[in-house]
Amino acid sequence: MGKIAFTAKQNELMCTFKRSELRRINILQGSVSAGKTWISLILWALWVAMRPPEYLYMMCGKSLQTLKRNCLLPLQELIGERNFTFSLAAKEGRLFGRRVMLEGANDGRSEGKIRGITLGGAYCDELTLFPKDFFVMLLSRLRVEGAKLIATTNPDVPTHWLKTEYLDNDALCGSLLSVFFHIDDNTTLPADYVKSLKKEYTGVYYDRFIRGDWVVANGAIYKVFSDAPRSYDIKSSDLPSGFEYLNIGLDFGGNGSKHALCATGISHDMQKIYALKTERIPAADMTPQALYKRVYNFCEDVLKRYGKLSAVYADSAEQTLIAGLRQALRPIGVIVKNSLKREINDRIRATTMLMAGGRFRLVSGECGTLIDAFRGAVWNDKIIGKEERLDDGTSDIDTLDAFEYSFERFIPQLIRSEK
Ligand SMILES: Nc1ncnc2c1ncn2[C@@H]1O[C@H](COP(=O)(O)OP(=O)(O)O)[C@@H](O)[C@H]1O
Ligand SMILES: [Mg+2]
Repeated sequence: MGKIAFTAKQNELMCTFKRSELRRINILQGSVSAGKTWISLILWALWVAMRPPEYLYMMCGKSLQTLKRNCLLPLQELIGERNFTFSLAAKEGRLFGRRVMLEGANDGRSEGKIRGITLGGAYCDELTLFPKDFFVMLLSRLRVEGAKLIATTNPDVPTHWLKTEYLDNDALCGSLLSVFFHIDDNTTLPADYVKSLKKEYTGVYYDRFIRGDWVVANGAIYKVFSDAPRSYDIKSSDLPSGFEYLNIGLDFGGNGSKHALCATGISHDMQKIYALKTERIPAADMTPQALYKRVYNFCEDVLKRYGKLSAVYADSAEQTLIAGLRQALRPIGVIVKNSLKREINDRIRATTMLMAGGRFRLVSGECGTLIDAFRGAVWNDKIIGKEERLDDGTSDIDTLDAFEYSFERFIPQLIRSEK
């Protein structure tokens, strides 16, 4: 493996391994960038290399793509192509001559596929993101003597199945090893990098991804904004002279809710985003034609002022309205695309990271509805198992959706840790 040096925390885990004190289930949990994945891959490789070559092994992530990015490529880098090769198409790899199946836990067919097999060992990346059924099935497949599971995860809500049924389950204490890693344990990272990473996470995300605590999300979602809304303001005259993308997000209102529009500029270096103009349109008694006209006017105004409009990203649930809108906007050459609809919590995390990193600004005189929407948004404290943005009509979720549609496609470029 060439020359490698463990952090003190990683070394502790390796000593546990050398003393043969790993258990049946081994979970490395804690903050981001704490060195969990790095050491888990070394541990996994060394452990597999010592096990019988005829056994079947498995590595799984939320999806095959995230598994490749987070684990397969880094593992190959760590131990070399001579010792580890893989093919996503074949969903299979070879680790020190052992056959390793590769699976995405969120692929609905995966659970059925592993139903009948017997595994000598399993590796799981970001375990809280797995459906519980998949994990239960996986454990039941670890049937050979000495079979083990090695997993990494960040914390989630305290009511998460992994926490309540496994980590906190006294009945499992002899067969489950949980090791906690803090970001400060990763002494290989430059101090200023750690500092900027810590700054990007706020609220519940700070508690989970930096402190490593299993906590519920409650209260204001965009507290980082509502604590100092004016610090996000930018005068039109201070905006960059041009944008890489200028998109409009459009959320269609239904019964009771309103339509919402948000124009957002993304800087040429893909580092900053600017909310330029937002608007709400009452949905009640409005014909599609009247709506198209309002959107047309909004687009025309943006085009006139900024000389650019890359695309309108519209709520993909409303294909009929989108088709009509395409027609209506054709005369001014505006393209209408479907919103991507990333998971709402991924959009929220990206937004708060951009805010905390000083990478979000808005033209306050033009974005009153967005300011109100940020200030009004709260977590739903009645939900168990996963946090959720409260959407009961008491806050303006439509405008938040429109804002998010306007930049969500670019989250991977904007946020380094996102897929
Ligand atoms: N012992 C080490 N030597 C060199 N780099 C390391 C070491 N441990 C971790 N790293 C690096 O630190 C970064 C974060 O580690 P990672 O294992 O991905 O954290 P986590 O899985 O806890 O989020 C990665 O770039 C990783 O390669
Ligand atoms: Mg990791």
